Parts: sequence; structure tokens; C-alpha cells
Amino acid sequence: MKKINIAIDGPSGVGKSTIADIVAEKLNMRHLDTGAMYRCVAYKTLKDGVNIQDEKAMSDLMDTIDIHFDEDNHVYLDGEDVSKEIRMNNVSMQASKTSQLGIVRKKLVNLQQKVCANKGFIVDGRDICSVVLPDAEVKIFMSASSKARAQRRYDEYISKGIDADYETIYQDIVARDYQDMHREISPLVKTEDAIEIDTSDLTIDEVVSKVLDIVG
Ligand code: C5P
Repeated sequence: MKKINIAIDGPSGVGKSTIADIVAEKLNMRHLDTGAMYRCVAYKTLKDGVNIQDEKAMSDLMDTIDIHFDEDNHVYLDGEDVSKEIRMNNVSMQASKTSQLGIVRKKLVNLQQKVCANKGFIVDGRDICSVVLPDAEVKIFMSASSKARAQRRYDEYISKGIDADYETIYQDIVARDYQDMHREISPLVKTEDAIEIDTSDLTIDEVVSKVLDIVG
């Protein structure tokens, strides 16, 4: 098969990462989880007590930050495996704020485009179809109701042994949707050429097979 890139956008908790992981494995592609990169930036601001309104401090942070993934898609921030830490609720909310900053987006988009330049990637996020990979061979927009998404994220946390409260997760999802869709730079949008999959009532296997059908 000719090497291609697959772009998947959609709101929080819609299952993009889970689906991308499975499809990547089936098609022998690599999965790039761009949300994890924004989460690393957010986690670092919290850990180091950086004021995100301080342009100089954010610029220094972005100049020195090191984010990379291993073969199992564990994410490393400045050499430390933070795969679990970046999934905490406070990091999710902070990521929604730091991802509004032009300086953060510029550096991460650049990095993402470099990683995917030779194709063979399935990339999930908010601005992949519109900004990161507008030339991707396959573009998908995944959607689901906010209640379905909150329930899934709650189940995911519990299965990973992370403390969770459904109502808090639901409220956070609604707030994050609003922030992601109304920000000035690269808001979450469904591009005209993206194929929408509403996953509210679909199992993981059903979504995977829809994606594979689209890829062809
Ligand atoms: O996908 P995930 O929930 O892990 O993303 C965390 C946050 O990072 C999102 O709420 C969003 O604000 C931001 N993000 C983004 N652009 C991307 C991926 C994530 O702005 N491509």
C-alpha cells in the first residue's frame, strides 16, 4: 500500500486516541497523539509554576521543552515518562488554556509536521485536518454526545486506577469543548473534506471498521 497520512479530529473524549492506536497497529502505521504533546506543555507549566500569561516565561519554556514518544507511545517530558500524569483532570483543563497560545501551537505544529513528513502516520487532535496536515490522504472527524464521552473517560480512568468523579469529568468536557471550539487560533472545526463518524452508539470495533472502510 502507498504510504499515506490519516488525520483525525474531534472533541475531548471521543475516542480518537484509542481508535488511532488500533488502526495504526492494523495498518502498520505510527500513531501520533498530538493531545499528549499539548498536555506535556500544560503539565510542565503546572509543575514549574509558570504563569501562562507571561510571554517571556512561555517562550523560554517552549525553547527548552523536550517531548518524545517511545515505541509503545509512552510520552516523555524532558526525559521523564509522564504518560499517566498528563491524563489528570487538572492537566486537561490547563492544556485547553495553554493550547490557545500562539507560541505553543507554532512550535508543536511545526514538530508534528516534521514527524509526519515521510508519511505513514495516523495523527489525532483538533487542528490536524485544518492546519497540521491539510494534505492528508484521509481526513476524519469523530463526534459523540458529551454524555457518552464523559462516561467513556470515566471508565478509562477507573480502568487505569486513576480516581475519578463522573460529574466533574462531564463539566470539564463541556467547558473544554467550548474553549476548543471558540479559541482564536486553530479552533476545533470539521473541515468540509473530512468524513464524520458519530461514535455515540458505536462500539470500538465498529468505529475501527468504519475507519478502515474509509481508508479503503
Ligand atoms: O486530545 P486531548 O484531550 O488529549 O487534548 C488535550 C487538549 O489539548 C485539548 O483540550 C485541546 O485544547 C488541546 N489540543 C489542541 N490541538 C490538538 C490536540 C489537542 O489544541 N491538535
